[in-house]
Amino acid sequence: MVILKSPEEIEKIRQSNIIVADILNELRGMVKPGIKTMALNRYSEELALRKGAKPAFKGYRGYPFSLCVSVNSEVVHGMPSNRVLKTGDLISLDFGIYYNGYYGDSAITVSVGEVSDVAARLSSITKESLYNGIKEARAGNRLGDISAAVQEHVEASGFSVVRDFVGHGIGKNLHEDPQIPNFGIRGKGIELKPGMVFAIEPMVNEGTYKVKVLDDGWTVVTADGKLSAHFEHSVAITEDGPVILSRVD
Ligand code: MF3
Ligand code: CO
Repeated sequence: MVILKSPEEIEKIRQSNIIVADILNELRGMVKPGIKTMALNRYSEELALRKGAKPAFKGYRGYPFSLCVSVNSEVVHGMPSNRVLKTGDLISLDFGIYYNGYYGDSAITVSVGEVSDVAARLSSITKESLYNGIKEARAGNRLGDISAAVQEHVEASGFSVVRDFVGHGIGKNLHEDPQIPNFGIRGKGIELKPGMVFAIEPMVNEGTYKVKVLDDGWTVVTADGKLSAHFEHSVAITEDGPVILSRVD
């Protein structure tokens, strides 16, 4: 069941997502060769608590950290550790909070120092594919219009979209219906209505779309060891079109 949100609720979801966006911006500034991924986790937690927000991922289905840091061939749900970031790494930072009754969830991919041409291209195409998907998030369209827009841009660029993990509705729960695949067919799926709020999150691989989960039970990696990138925005569908909630202007 897809829960429709009132304009007042969307405003609250925006407040939560602005906190997430602010924190991701701060974390982006900390990403440098030599920093440990655990330091980013600690900082994300401090910043959230300072703003009176609760990190959403910590304890979620037993996930032990506040931040997901996925490095290079890690797709999503990478766990912070003593790993030291080095020049050329491509990392995704995925962060969520709970604030005033509503969740915020967003992710960015960040380059550590200078990265390879393919890493830079993978990151840009993934971000562009997210924005292409967001453009389709309007009343009267179908869910498949979002999914297809993401997939078309990614595949036309020679990359692949992950099938095993998807975006989701968001609101009073971190994960609500519907699931939002990054692959699909235009004109198919549920009809989009004002009041729907979606976390759209393309996970894009350089090589095969196939992934596996490591023995830690969380870290998702590409099956071929090639690179992966990930961007996520929480987006409201309104009478006036899509509104990105997880953005600081
Ligand atoms: N943004 C991710 C998601 O929407 C993060 C979840 S990580 C978890 O699923 F640890 F909370 F599961
Ligand atoms: Co999400």
